[in-house]
Amino acid sequence: MNVTVILPTYNERGNIIVLLDGLSQAVTGIPGHAFSFLVVDDTSEDGTQEVVRRYARKHPDIFLLSGKKEGLGRALLRGMQYAIDTLHADLIVQMDADLSHDPASFSSFIKEIDKGADFVVGSRYIRGGSIPSNWGLHRKIFSVVGNAIVRFGLGFPLVHDWTGGYRAYMRKYYDRFHGEMKKFSGYVFQIAFLHKSIRSGARAVEVPIQFTDRLYGRSKIAPSQYIRDVLRYVVTQRIKAMMQGSFGKFCIVGTAGFLINTVVLELGVQFGLHPVLASVMGAELAIVSNFIFNNAWTFRDRKIHGKRRIIKFLQFNATSVGAIVIQAGTIWVGTAFYGISAYRIFYILGVGIGLVWNYIMYSTIIWKRQGQ
Ligand code: GDD
Ligand code: MN
Repeated sequence: MNVTVILPTYNERGNIIVLLDGLSQAVTGIPGHAFSFLVVDDTSEDGTQEVVRRYARKHPDIFLLSGKKEGLGRALLRGMQYAIDTLHADLIVQMDADLSHDPASFSSFIKEIDKGADFVVGSRYIRGGSIPSNWGLHRKIFSVVGNAIVRFGLGFPLVHDWTGGYRAYMRKYYDRFHGEMKKFSGYVFQIAFLHKSIRSGARAVEVPIQFTDRLYGRSKIAPSQYIRDVLRYVVTQRIKAMMQGSFGKFCIVGTAGFLINTVVLELGVQFGLHPVLASVMGAELAIVSNFIFNNAWTFRDRKIHGKRRIIKFLQFNATSVGAIVIQAGTIWVGTAFYGISAYRIFYILGVGIGLVWNYIMYSTIIWKRQGQ
């Protein structure tokens, strides 16, 4: 395979040559692949480009791509494009250029690719991996907690290290995602790219890495912006997944039911029915509508057929009574403490709690999965 190692740099003059030397050594023992090295520099002011250019004169496998300072994500994307279009890379390896990532681990990435992985993640949080022992306690906690939030928030707990930048992946993930990756210009790129790849079926494998503090220069990360980007990414992905899953459909069906309830109540009163009777009719029609559409659409993978529908419909009514009790109870308790005029707030709160109640009842009792 053609393998291109992408090294993003911004003011890494003191590190980059040591790294390139280390990498040249590291790849000599690896059979079966052709390696090239691509430094993607964003107009560093410290002379990074000059030292790389000079070094590249003696090393035909080293390339320099220079661009505007647009953030780490953009630099990686530009690097991938050049690696694929110009250097004909099949596999891309990326690593930090500040000597935090050890070339000694390099061969373990290629080994996993040779064994059939298509996305290899350097991991500090598996056996054999580590973060610097000289990091202060708060920094350690920050890194561990941040990774846990991403890991469980995105719902892929099998990968332990989401934020790091030492990885190897097949070019197809660039081909698939380069368009939508443009908006992740900063460090959050690492998380989004891995997430999209895994979701599209990548066989992701972790290899342990020992992350060490950079030797020269300063970190370019802007912590507050990074935290904001990461949280925003995790939360929007969660909401999207929920809306695409059964919860979104459940909400749409429930909204239709609510409208039916309201319209029947209003029309009934117009035609001279007592509001209590009209609201009971409206509620029951909404329940019928909810049952039919949840069965046909929201939970269609567990659709109820035949006579069982009658029993399930009665159960469904019973759980709906549960939601009404919750709603009335919330209003009762709320107004007891805050006075009768606060009823609207507690109505909304009650509807919210009832919604969660209904969803749990529907998905675990009425439309229970087989074998549960
Ligand atoms: N071309 C380019 N443009 N390179 C950049 C830019 C940029 O805007 N910003 C950073 N880099 C390069 C740095 O020169 C370095 O080689 C690498 O990207 C990592 O940047 P550091 O500044 O060393 O970041 P860090 O050590 O604080 O960040 C570490 O943690 C992040 C979050 O966990 C790294 O491991 C990152 O890869 C990781 O995403
Ligand atoms: Mn660093």
